[in-house]
Amino acid sequence: MATQLPHPASSQAFTISANGRFCFGGDWNPEQWDESTWEGDIIKLEHAGINEATINVFAWALIQPSEERYDFSMLDRIVALLDKHDFGFIMATSTGALPAWIPAKYPDTTRTDFEGRHHAFGMRHNACPNSPNFQRLSTALAGKLSERYGNDDHLVAWHISNEYGGECYCERCATAFRTWLKHKYGSLDALNRAWNTNFWSHTYTDFEQILPPNTLTDGIDNRRATLSGCNIDYKRFQSDSLLANYTGERDAIREHDAKHPITTNLMDIFEGLDYFKWGEQMDVISWDDYPFINTTPSDNGFKHDLMRGVGGGKPFMLMESTPSQTNWHAYNVLKEPGKMRLQSYQAIAHGADTVQYFQLKQSAGGFEKYHGAVITHGGREDERVFREVSALGAELNAHGHDFLGGLIDAPVAMMFDWDSYWSLENVSLLPESFTYRNQVLRWYAPFHRRNLAVDVVPESISAERLNQYKVLVAPALIMVKPGVAELIEQYVQAGGVFLTTIMSGMHDENDNVILGGYPGAFRNVCGMRVEELDMYPENKKVQAVFDSGTSDVSVTGGVIKLDDGARPLATYTGDVFYRGTPAATVNDYGSGAAYFAGAVMDKAGTDMIVDNVARRAGLHAIASPDSVEVITRSYPERHQKLTFILNHSGAAVTYPNAPFDGDRSLLDGTTLSKNLTLDPYGVIIAVHDTDR
Ligand code: GLA
Ligand code: ZN
Repeated sequence: MATQLPHPASSQAFTISANGRFCFGGDWNPEQWDESTWEGDIIKLEHAGINEATINVFAWALIQPSEERYDFSMLDRIVALLDKHDFGFIMATSTGALPAWIPAKYPDTTRTDFEGRHHAFGMRHNACPNSPNFQRLSTALAGKLSERYGNDDHLVAWHISNEYGGECYCERCATAFRTWLKHKYGSLDALNRAWNTNFWSHTYTDFEQILPPNTLTDGIDNRRATLSGCNIDYKRFQSDSLLANYTGERDAIREHDAKHPITTNLMDIFEGLDYFKWGEQMDVISWDDYPFINTTPSDNGFKHDLMRGVGGGKPFMLMESTPSQTNWHAYNVLKEPGKMRLQSYQAIAHGADTVQYFQLKQSAGGFEKYHGAVITHGGREDERVFREVSALGAELNAHGHDFLGGLIDAPVAMMFDWDSYWSLENVSLLPESFTYRNQVLRWYAPFHRRNLAVDVVPESISAERLNQYKVLVAPALIMVKPGVAELIEQYVQAGGVFLTTIMSGMHDENDNVILGGYPGAFRNVCGMRVEELDMYPENKKVQAVFDSGTSDVSVTGGVIKLDDGARPLATYTGDVFYRGTPAATVNDYGSGAAYFAGAVMDKAGTDMIVDNVARRAGLHAIASPDSVEVITRSYPERHQKLTFILNHSGAAVTYPNAPFDGDRSLLDGTTLSKNLTLDPYGVIIAVHDTDR
């Protein structure tokens, strides 16, 4: 049942490696190919330095052709071949796509969509999480796989299902939702109060009247519903339901294999699942990174940091990335020479302990036949992509071991919260450009520009952990659950520096407005009050004037009153009646300070605010050229730090006064000087021996 929270993940600390080597590999789908090609492909991959294959991701139809019959003969031969070539393998459970016989036999296993249509067989990621037949069949399969392969000495990890996501609105989900709600609220009265159901005469007189919010019921679109409390509860419930699928398979695996780490591949800022809750149940985080044409290095850095944060700061796996191009973006551009290597090192720099591709061999048929791969349709080892993969493979086989296990000592914490994500998306007021994702990325960027490392943390962070950070940033953290405002107040009281923004602190855990003025829960610590929210069109000319400059403003939080002690940091000028009033404020609180950014500002504005914050908190920014990112992983047990210096530009760049002179360059063994030159998409890794 979805309400039961499963056992937490093993507390064991897992190191991911392919038999001691840095895990370099990816998805391999030999079942799509004639068996006579398998070994030749493995030999090619060996030439590229590949040492791992993720197998059995979508093969349920082959390994269980009917309910009564499992057939592992093909998988046995694949595993035997990988063993023979000393490849590590990650065994997926294949439950990310139903085989045709399952929905034919058990129609309840497929989903009912937002439009209320019950689906027949097709696609993938298609099972109803609350279907008892799916639960039974998927956990049985996971158990069988574990029993059979759990002792193989080349097994690296388990990979359950694939990219969990999507909602179901079927009858079984509706019933399970009501059970979940009864458990959460106890009584219908409490639920009616929490959801503010007297709005539009929604008051329920029986739990049976409650329906999942889709287009036939209360859903406005798949982000918003009439009662946002209900909408958010449904999202929480669906996230828990899929998580119960995950933990069901995990526990089935654990019955036969106590030692290998178990994961599933996550998708960064994915809206559908509360990944912090998931992280608690996963042995190691793995995720799939497919930067879009407009994904900046900062945005991608955030995604890595979010995934590391979901795993509690531990290293993670880059389970998928493309060696060259995707086939599902609007523009599927090639990665220019060097870019794949650079992006792989960016992942490692942010905490990845693997580099893995989707996929090792390009399909000849199916929807993904034009997706990039290590072995392409051309099949030659002298192709550009194959050569670049091979060059990276050589480096990772030489140095990759040194990367494993390194932690990142971040002075800055950024609070990210899926409830706030859902709550903000459900607000009917904001311009389209104002999304949770955009706000979070916008406020991450100035820290990234200063090479100030950021840990992404949940609202449930302990005071002890929070107090280790000099700065806490909470962009658009609209929903504040009980205890969180107090946690932040004690943090600032004790000297912490808090930065929050427009649309923060405004809702309680039921998504109702905290009365008395915005930012509700943070009014006390911020020492100010937003009296009105103004959402004018983007063509209006409004600016925020700071001591040190001016910033264009696209959305203002409206009228701020300083009646609780805050001082203005910037004031509005331009085409609004409240010109001259504060656009950003700062409040001294205990030994710390709370900053409030009242408007969505351009780069200059966020930079000026973050400069103030950094000065106040005594942060040490590292200056670097615009395209160069600097980030450090620490290895206290060997008294060493590795600093990754990454040139995200396709042009060479000089980096004068780089603070690494005297350090050894890991990749070429030279000693670094004060003035560095980085190749196009170049990478330098500085080895710094810390004092013993
Ligand atoms: C996802 C999936 C893979 C594949 C890739 C293609 O990450 O997990 O199965 O579809 O996308 O980019
Ligand atoms: Zn369902």
